[in-house]
Amino acid sequence: MKKVTKVNKAVFPVAGLGTRFLPATKAQPKEMLPIVDKPLIQYAVEEAYEAGIRHMVFVTGRSKRAIEDHFDTAYELESELQAAGKMDLLALVRSLAPDDMAFSYVRQPRSLGLGHAVLCAAPIVGDEPFAVLLADDLMRGPAGGKGILSQMVDVFQETPTSLLAVQEVPLAHVRRYGIVAGEPAGDRLVKVQQMVEKPAPEQAPSRLGVSGRYILTPAVFDCIRNQPRGSGGEIQLTDGIAQLIPSEGVHAYLYEGKRYDCGSKQGFLEATVEYALHHPEVGQTFRDYLKGLRD
Ligand code: UTP
Repeated sequence: MKKVTKVNKAVFPVAGLGTRFLPATKAQPKEMLPIVDKPLIQYAVEEAYEAGIRHMVFVTGRSKRAIEDHFDTAYELESELQAAGKMDLLALVRSLAPDDMAFSYVRQPRSLGLGHAVLCAAPIVGDEPFAVLLADDLMRGPAGGKGILSQMVDVFQETPTSLLAVQEVPLAHVRRYGIVAGEPAGDRLVKVQQMVEKPAPEQAPSRLGVSGRYILTPAVFDCIRNQPRGSGGEIQLTDGIAQLIPSEGVHAYLYEGKRYDCGSKQGFLEATVEYALHHPEVGQTFRDYLKGLRD
């Protein structure tokens, strides 16, 4: 039987506590923090849509209502905008959820880790490959080129094993990442032989750090179900994927583009400045403002 290689569903785990962004994330999800004028989650949903995915699955938790509301119809706002003749803004608000986009929401009752969050989506995903996007990793494809997930969907058509987006990270930063090592398997592709979650620099098998984009086969669900708790007492996604290495195989893809770790203050600020500099409305004035700044 031919393997299914069409990726129809994207899972967005948004049930984390966002402790690095307190107090901003006390009562609102970190995925709703805006980069200029768009919340992080919207960038990720747009990236999935661009990759041909139409069914968005959110794994939510407490304080995450704002995400559901963001992609829902806003009757009051829409009728006010209509009455005021603000048709551009009305079209903007309606464009967030195109007619061909479907949404599902499932709750993760406790923050038991990313692997557990992904497992919560299993009944909705079913027995087919799926994408996972961590919205706090803001990913930008090369100018005029494809988004990161779109690039990965193309790779998955040719190599239908679980696929992880990776980038080279400085040795001093390997402790922040899942690190993979393996052998070259084509253009920008590595056949993964080893995966370690947040290693010390002297124990890192390479400098290839996993970032928040994955295409996974459904076999990963059983792996996560049957694994013990991992680092930090959490049910780690990395541990589940590592179990696929000797069976189905796993590949890592060195994506073309840039990643901003918007779960950290530094990454969030870098993304804000770079996106503002390229924003059609405020780009030029913001550039002038920065040039005029003294200390
Ligand atoms: P992080 O490691 O960034 O954790 O999770 P966090 O809780 O969101 O943030 P900090 O570290 O406390 O500041 C990576 C992704 O996994 C999701 C998060 O929402 C984020 O998108 N996640 C994590 C869950 O959905 N559930 C969990 O139990 C843990």
